[in-house]
Amino acid sequence: MKHHIISGACGFVGRNFVKHLLKTTNDIIIAIDDLSIGTNPLTWLEDKTEKKFKNISILGKDERLYFWQTDFRNFLRKSLDEKDFMKNEFGLEVTRFDDVFHFAAIVGGRAKIDGDPLAVSLDLSIDAEFFYWVVKAKPKRVLYPSSSAAYPNSLQREETAVALKETDVNVNGDILGKPDMTYGWTKMTGEYLAHLAAKHYGVAVTCIRPFSGYGEDQDLSYPVPAIAARAARKENPFEVWGSGKQGRDFVHIDDVIDCTLTAMDKISDGSAINIGSGKLTSFIDLIKVFGKFAGYDPTIKPLLDKPVGVHSRYCNMDYVKETLNWEPKISLEEGMKRVYDTALKLYV
Ligand SMILES: NC(=O)c1ccc[n+]([C@@H]2O[C@H](COP(=O)([O-])OP(=O)(O)OC[C@H]3O[C@@H](n4cnc5c(N)ncnc54)[C@H](O)[C@@H]3O)[C@@H](O)[C@H]2O)c1
Repeated sequence: MKHHIISGACGFVGRNFVKHLLKTTNDIIIAIDDLSIGTNPLTWLEDKTEKKFKNISILGKDERLYFWQTDFRNFLRKSLDEKDFMKNEFGLEVTRFDDVFHFAAIVGGRAKIDGDPLAVSLDLSIDAEFFYWVVKAKPKRVLYPSSSAAYPNSLQREETAVALKETDVNVNGDILGKPDMTYGWTKMTGEYLAHLAAKHYGVAVTCIRPFSGYGEDQDLSYPVPAIAARAARKENPFEVWGSGKQGRDFVHIDDVIDCTLTAMDKISDGSAINIGSGKLTSFIDLIKVFGKFAGYDPTIKPLLDKPVGVHSRYCNMDYVKETLNWEPKISLEEGMKRVYDTALKLYV
């Protein structure tokens, strides 16, 4: 029986991984989240069966999901310091953890990244304790989610924007630029710790740099579901942060999961891969896509006092195609239609 850990298991990426692993494996999943952002699994699991063991909720009829609401650092410290911790606190016999997916982080949207950078910088503390634990606990495989925000801002300006390649930032070489606020600095540091954990301690680590992940169940503080909800209500004029000409590389969460699991089977040296569509879409174009679904053509109203981040952030997916033989399967139209259909049900 395999035992996987998912930190930040109740956030957007984490809960989609939990649901995927419950569906596609027979393994035990240890889900940790302090619920600072995420919501209790009973709000998003279909099977609401719950059994209690001390502080742990054992969820589902087949009792494979073990949820502990706590700061992930608390779990890491106790797991190192307390003898028979998993047996005593979870009632589980675990000799060695299998896959560890580390999604616990303070993320937020643009307003948080620009407006509260020292709150976001607490991710340095979470990641430092995480990799300290990794090299002692030596799980079989580790997934570290870096981000497109690790790329240098200088390659994402209006006049200089390029499709970002994995080699444009290399923590194991000489190429480092200035990343996006404390969020990007943390991710670059995390990649460096991942590299050290793999090289010096022999742990299998895979890093991913997802671009703008989106999905049907994403929080309304993120642009895609927020724009979908407003289009579903036929907002006109349609407000957009900044000029709306800034662009991102949108990738559906199902593709993020698929690519991540493919990468974990093939990459273990701590190096990072892009996960994106390889296409740049401006926010104005995104509004047009949703306008088409809603059957109207709104007037765009730019909100020039709002934070917008870099001008153009998109990736080159050639390396992933060559090394993993992987390409995204969900087109922008198809993925956004799924989000729109959900927004119609939830917000109109
Ligand atoms: N969503 C994307 O498109 C995207 C893109 C690039 C990278 N990532 C990375 O993926 C990871 C997950 O992102 P997300 O979009 O799911 O964010 P999210 O905010 O939805 O989820 C993060 C989860 O971590 C939890 N959390 C925060 N601090 C914690 C702590 N100290 N202990 C335990 N739990 C804690 C929160 O409650 C939340 O449920 C992050 O590292 C993020 O940087 C996401």
